[in-house]
Amino acid sequence: MKIGVFDSGIGGLTVVKSLLHHQLFEEIIYFGDTARVPYGSKDKNTIIRYAIEAVEFFKNFELDMIVVACNTVSAYALSEMRESATCPVIGVVDAGVLATANALKDKKSNILIIGTKATIASNAYEEGLKKLQFQNLQSTPTPLFVPLVEEEIFDGDILTSTLHHYFKNKKTPDALILGCTHFPLLSKTLQNYFGEKTLLIHSGDAIVEFLEKEFYFSKKYRDPKLKFFASENPDALRKIAQKWLYA
Ligand code: DGL
Repeated sequence: MKIGVFDSGIGGLTVVKSLLHHQLFEEIIYFGDTARVPYGSKDKNTIIRYAIEAVEFFKNFELDMIVVACNTVSAYALSEMRESATCPVIGVVDAGVLATANALKDKKSNILIIGTKATIASNAYEEGLKKLQFQNLQSTPTPLFVPLVEEEIFDGDILTSTLHHYFKNKKTPDALILGCTHFPLLSKTLQNYFGEKTLLIHSGDAIVEFLEKEFYFSKKYRDPKLKFFASENPDALRKIAQKWLYA
């Protein structure tokens, strides 16, 4: 099993970390569009165009599947990617919706979705959750978390003010959907902020659950091969991968 993992930049490494941990693939080809990140502030047509270019790039490898780690791309470009791909393409939004629904028994549960401006504007998570009868949904874009994570600011005053800025008027949710690749790196801080009762939904773990439940993945590969590609400065991506994946 050989897959491509696509993200707008480095954030998708949080998804790779979950895939590696669960040993679902023999080989993972990661492509981060580091030259054109962020996608979260771009419009739909641009996101779709970039996503189709990523599919073209992946045609250089004989892949069994493409996992779209980027929430923004998953929210806007999945059907277009599927049209041009020659293998299945799965995204983190569908996986996150299913993981949330599997974890919450009560349809009245209060769910808070956070993500980039584009992801939140797409309403993709809300639409998916509403189809499964969840109605008590709040969402808010939290784009400042992205540069904070890239600066490796995982706690401290700046983050505390940012949390207050975004969440001061929000009810404590039963579940918080981390609708952006970078946010799992803030899990500890977000859990402390909302308290232990709030369930955090992580895209990487959601994709693993999705593959196991929907695609019946069960075989384990002990020593998966990893290859990293980036549209700009692949060495910087490889260095960050070393740090984030094996820390
Ligand atoms: N990877 C993006 C996402 O998950 C975050 C970074 C960006 O804006 O490109 O939505």
